[in-house]
Amino acid sequence: MRQPIIAGNWKMYKTAAEAVEFVRDLKPLAGGAKHCEIVICPPYTSLEVLAPELAGTGISLGAQNMYWEAEGAYTGEVSPGMLLAAGCKYVILGHSERREYFGESDETVNRKLKAALTNGLVPIFCVGEKLAEREAGTTTQVVRRQVTGGLAGIAPADAARMVIAYEPVWAIGTGRTASSEDAEEVISFIRGVVEELFGPETAAEVRIQYGGSVKPGNAPELMGMPNIDGALVGGASLDPVSFAQIVNYQA
Ligand code: 13P
Repeated sequence: MRQPIIAGNWKMYKTAAEAVEFVRDLKPLAGGAKHCEIVICPPYTSLEVLAPELAGTGISLGAQNMYWEAEGAYTGEVSPGMLLAAGCKYVILGHSERREYFGESDETVNRKLKAALTNGLVPIFCVGEKLAEREAGTTTQVVRRQVTGGLAGIAPADAARMVIAYEPVWAIGTGRTASSEDAEEVISFIRGVVEELFGPETAAEVRIQYGGSVKPGNAPELMGMPNIDGALVGGASLDPVSFAQIVNYQA
């Protein structure tokens, strides 16, 4: 039985002080949830300060990106070991904003996924088609390429413990959510690709989230779909009340 995982991707929002205030507000609303795992992914500058705030709450910490090297002359980058030392369990990799604005490709995402897994971090590996790709009818082709490229050379046991996030780019920050049926269809397709690559056991174990304009109002229906194992939430994760409502979709 896959435990749903609901993660907040704060993107480039909140100072460290604002992050602490958020967590203090969230704890009584969502701390101790048993039906799903909760993860908060703040900017790097809030990781160290949130780790002790989250200790003992059952809420995990994640980063939004990392570099694959262990250390070195890579100005501006952060390594897997640094994220672990800061208290992270998770790291979002290959988000569409990283692909769009920072030149990430299936190949660089693959290197990052391997480095995260080798170091004991759990990647939240993002895939999803752009609007033009959906309109051209190439959604499954694009998603297959991203999944196959991203997971090249990864061992089945490692693939089983990672999280995949299906985020159609046209649904991110637009208020346009994929219908639950559309999201379910692509996510079940992704599970099929994982099965082709790694076999049925891995496919049955890997958790696949939906992301893109998830709000308290649409979370219950999305979470009710058989292949959707949680959500990667952007805008609605910035407010403790709306994030808690999403987390408590079936409280
Ligand atoms: P929104 O929930 O703001 O659409 O963002 C989704 C997202 O990109 C999460 O990673």
